[in-house]
Amino acid sequence: MLIDSYDRVVDYLRVSVTERCNFRCQYCMPEKPFSWVPKENLLSFEELFLFMKIAIDEGVNKIRITGGEPLLREDLDKFIKMIYDYKPSVDLAMTTNAYLLKGTAQRLKDAGLKRINVSIDTLKPEVAQAIAGKDVLKNVLEGVEEARKVGLKVKVNMVPMKNMNANEIVDVLEYCKERDMSIRFIEYMENQFAAKEISGLKSDELLSLLREHYEFEDEGFDGSSPSHYFRMKDGYRFGLIEPYEDDFCKKCNRIRLTAEGNLIPCLYFDEALSIGKAIKAGDIQAAAEVLREVVRTKPEKNRWGGEDSETSSRAFYETGG
Ligand code: 5AD
Ligand code: SF4
Repeated sequence: MLIDSYDRVVDYLRVSVTERCNFRCQYCMPEKPFSWVPKENLLSFEELFLFMKIAIDEGVNKIRITGGEPLLREDLDKFIKMIYDYKPSVDLAMTTNAYLLKGTAQRLKDAGLKRINVSIDTLKPEVAQAIAGKDVLKNVLEGVEEARKVGLKVKVNMVPMKNMNANEIVDVLEYCKERDMSIRFIEYMENQFAAKEISGLKSDELLSLLREHYEFEDEGFDGSSPSHYFRMKDGYRFGLIEPYEDDFCKKCNRIRLTAEGNLIPCLYFDEALSIGKAIKAGDIQAAAEVLREVVRTKPEKNRWGGEDSETSSRAFYETGG
């Protein structure tokens, strides 16, 4: 088992398979980055899989594939199948913008994928265009439908922004509720790469807007998820992620791997150790040691709300949020 110095069991690995993305979301990557990680620095699926096996053997039982946009990487279903065949009980999930899901959802499901998280920030085509930098809504919604049809469980993320999509929180919630998909509202996280003019809706503002329409009770946190849950009268639950808090850090069980092999113990901090050299050399012992070291040095909590800057210098497209 992987246990950190605060007695937290680390059993959840998020793996970014590419930082590239076909969207240019205002809150993440409004401009194409000056340069991408050179292709030769990316770990191949065989190399990534070697590390997945090490992590699983050390105790990881949940793996989430992220990007950038993971479906931009060719043959992703084969990578998923490698993990599934190695240990079918691993909880295999993916975070995707859903644009390319139509036509691929069945293959992903057959490969062993169980769940996806997608962003639905709006139900208006022109707002989707303003947020993502292109006309994406039709493909996204069709992709989500197809994923549901083939039996993937779908969770939806929405980042409410003032003067943009904040007036749609009830519509998007209803859209999800009708389809039995849970929704999580994520407070906008300031970061150096986002568009400068964004003003995120704060959680208290969001809750009071929702209270104008619904009655709901605070259910607190659920397991290791950073999401705070609320239950409405009819039983439907929605979540709220407040990145500037640190109460969810107490139960944090996750570490992240970037597409070039940097293992990151906490999203807030810049610290990371590379498994790239060890994996490329096929040195399982050395890679396992880096993994244990990263877990050992996992910080107790983030410092978003502290005296330090609240603006992250981390590009979320490197780590999949
Ligand atoms: N603030 C909040 N959430 C973000 N995401 C990406 N960038 C940000 C940000 N700056 C979320 C999106 C997406 C997920 C991958 O990360 O909602 O669903
Ligand atoms: Fe948008 Fe996700 Fe792509 Fe970032 S990585 S630009 S949030 S779709």
